[in-house]
Amino acid sequence: MTTKARIGIVTVSDRASRGEYEDRGGPALVDYFSAVLKSDWEPVREIIPDERPLVDETLMKLADTENCCLIVTTGGTGPAHRDITPEATEAVCEKMMPGFGELMRQESLKAVPTAILSRQTAGIRGGSLIVNLPGQPKAIKECLDAVMPAIPYCIDLIG
Ligand code: MTE
Repeated sequence: MTTKARIGIVTVSDRASRGEYEDRGGPALVDYFSAVLKSDWEPVREIIPDERPLVDETLMKLADTENCCLIVTTGGTGPAHRDITPEATEAVCEKMMPGFGELMRQESLKAVPTAILSRQTAGIRGGSLIVNLPGQPKAIKECLDAVMPAIPYCIDLIG
């Protein structure tokens, strides 16, 4: 029996966590990975507000206790005062992988000029790769299509 890859899907949004706004990023990520990985994976879902240390704690739990090889966040990457997802990612990672953010922004700029406003990044905590995405559901495909080829290789190297 092969174990399924566990992927953490973290929606970081004040309004979605309070139920004032439907979380569309989380379900879009589930659809994206289901299309790419078929049934070879299982999601571990979280919807949390833009609050530190809660974002830090959630990322640490998914990496250390839930054994997710990949953790993808959606939201909280912009310039607004409450946008703290990249800071939380940097705080919990042992090693940053700036190339992921650089490539995702570069590809996103072809679709939207406001891609420059995302500070999305990526890093490694233990055997987990953490990747930030903007909160716009359409950003998921625009960003992940660019970096997806590197993700399994990166996870192999840290496993
Ligand atoms: N990147 C892609 N691919 N598509 C988008 O629609 N939106 C931008 C940017 N990056 C966007 C994108 C906008 S408008 C903002 S404000 C920033 O991501 C930050 O979004 P966030 O705070 O929801 O993470």
